[in-house]
Amino acid sequence: MSLVRGANDRQGEIYDEFFVDSRIRSDVWKFADRFLIKGRLLDLGCGTGEDALHFTQRGLEVTAIDISPAMIARLKLKCGEAVRYEVGDMCSYGSDKPFDAVFSNFSAVNYVSSLEWLRRIPLLPGGYLVLVTLGRFYPLGAAIFLLKGQLRRVTHRLQSTIEGSLDGSTFTVHYHSLNKIRHDLGPSFELKHVAGLRALSTTPDLRHLERFGVIRLLRPIDAWWCAHRLTAVISDQFISVWQFVG
Ligand SMILES: C[S@@+](CC[C@H](N)C(=O)[O-])C[C@H]1O[C@@H](n2cnc3c(N)ncnc32)[C@H](O)[C@@H]1O
Repeated sequence: MSLVRGANDRQGEIYDEFFVDSRIRSDVWKFADRFLIKGRLLDLGCGTGEDALHFTQRGLEVTAIDISPAMIARLKLKCGEAVRYEVGDMCSYGSDKPFDAVFSNFSAVNYVSSLEWLRRIPLLPGGYLVLVTLGRFYPLGAAIFLLKGQLRRVTHRLQSTIEGSLDGSTFTVHYHSLNKIRHDLGPSFELKHVAGLRALSTTPDLRHLERFGVIRLLRPIDAWWCAHRLTAVISDQFISVWQFVG
């Protein structure tokens, strides 16, 4: 059993408590709903199925895949038969029938080192691939680490990989820059949009800091920062939208 799968199996039970009502997820939906409109959608590293449920309710026909049986078990409880699901490694996923769109949320593809396998996922020409991946520098997080004197953590994401740990299991997190994603996807994908998710505002683990006025004052700057392509990638996570041009 892979370490990623082992760690996520145990997290399956507590994951929803942390992520279901996440404000960040609704920000992702606001953006993704502009591109994932109809037809067959493949959700890679689907977790407990929050996105699968959302897109199904919007009329898409969702296929969801995750390496963790515990995550898929939660998805089954939540979505019933409305969603097709599979326990498996997304990197070797295959389908005879092409998808209208492919989606992967909250850093699922940061568990793998190369994204070249995405070229093999059958996608209809004109279809969108929407990825939510970890940024390589989160300014607010870095500032907090600096204030705490944890200097190594200020820049730790600038390494291309770091060892993470979840519930006692260790695993590797791979940071993909926009250029790396572009390289791995190859010339058949064109970058259409980029948006940041939390550069100068708080992620769920830093939400306690919102009691400080300065954090609230930074919100408009955060919105501007996250909306511009050059700065958007310098954030906790960023959304990139790619169109398959065949
Ligand atoms: C941070 S969670 C995100 C889950 C979900 N996308 C969401 O938005 O809640 C990452 C997910 O990726 C899954 N995962 C990691 N590596 C995978 C792989 N090689 N194939 C399929 N799923 C994988 C994990 O089991 C976990 O459910």
